[in-house]
Amino acid sequence: MRRIGFHNREKEIKEIKNLLDAEPSLITFVYGPINSGKTALIKHLIEQLPDDYVIFYINLRTKFLASYDDFVESLFEMELETEETNRKRKETLKELISSITKVTGIPINREFLDYVFKDKKPKNAFSYIIKLFEAVRDSGKQPVLVLDELQKIGDVKVNGPLIYELFNFFIDLTKELHLAHVFVISSDSLFIERVYSEAMLEGRCRYLLVDDFDCETATTFLEKHGFSDDEKATAWEYCGGKPVCLIEVVNSEKKEDKAKEMLMIRISEMKTILKRVKELGSEICIEDKSYSVRYAELIDALKHFAEREVIDIDEMDEISTTFLVKKNVLFVDPVRGVIKPQSRLNLHAIRELMN
Ligand SMILES: Nc1ncnc2c1ncn2[C@@H]1O[C@H](COP(=O)(O)OP(=O)(O)O)[C@@H](O)[C@H]1O
Ligand SMILES: [Mg+2]
Repeated sequence: MRRIGFHNREKEIKEIKNLLDAEPSLITFVYGPINSGKTALIKHLIEQLPDDYVIFYINLRTKFLASYDDFVESLFEMELETEETNRKRKETLKELISSITKVTGIPINREFLDYVFKDKKPKNAFSYIIKLFEAVRDSGKQPVLVLDELQKIGDVKVNGPLIYELFNFFIDLTKELHLAHVFVISSDSLFIERVYSEAMLEGRCRYLLVDDFDCETATTFLEKHGFSDDEKATAWEYCGGKPVCLIEVVNSEKKEDKAKEMLMIRISEMKTILKRVKELGSEICIEDKSYSVRYAELIDALKHFAEREVIDIDEMDEISTTFLVKKNVLFVDPVRGVIKPQSRLNLHAIRELMN
């Protein structure tokens, strides 16, 4: 079996290691287009870190999150009560962290769990985590909390929206207590846009873009996998620097045909999206209000990419932007104030359709 090793990301790795060297003070939001390699980067980095970092990594991607209880459940990992652990139950935090490995969910036992669920108060869950992290720090290690695909908690509410409780908790962990590094990862640029305009986070977080590979990085990746000059050019032309896409080409026998096939599929998907809006109309919700999506405006919006690869956020109307981002056609970068297609494949598909 062919295994594709991790490629590059030296700049991003250096930047994150640098952050980890300093006392925790800000929340770090890691964002970028879908499948740009955010999760892969963090996982690769975790492997490289020395043992004195304890990383609590929680990926919400596959979790079912309809309620507060679902969220709390997704955070914690129950200590399994096997016969052996029954004899030697882990009762204190110190005992709980004794079995912690470098990467872990948040360990908890039955008693603490009862406390955490009690009265549906996020405060209980958070004060437990703070105590646990303090115990980790007292053992001479640095806790790091990583929440992947955080946008999945959506509009789960406990009194108010859970997300605000969480942001406050992250601020406690970083800026107030300097207790743990906090990384929040998301592919959802609408979520990052919300975060970016959130007053309570101002001056309390930083943003790290993990974009598709640039041309040079993609080229060295393809060279590693024995691509000829022509194959490299075609792969870049169609896939740009999207790692999954490049891997798909690396793994196929007829590289050029594969690239062309991927473009054809994307064109046909996008055609369907536009056809449905044209014939059936569509609605989109922005800040709890519903708006109709207009076909003519979508087309005008997409035409911006006929000549350019990146446009300014102000150049496109909010409804079209939101719709096209939700359909994974476009990616908004609120930090740089720009909109661009989710990938080079999407850029080509847009151009084909606008012709
Ligand atoms: N630096 C890299 N080197 C090799 N493969 C990568 C790299 N980054 C991403 N990939 C591949 O691309 C896939 C998608 O990346 P992922 O990290 O899941 O994207 P994201 O989390 O940004 O949506 C991964 O499963 C991995 O196979
Ligand atoms: Mg991911």
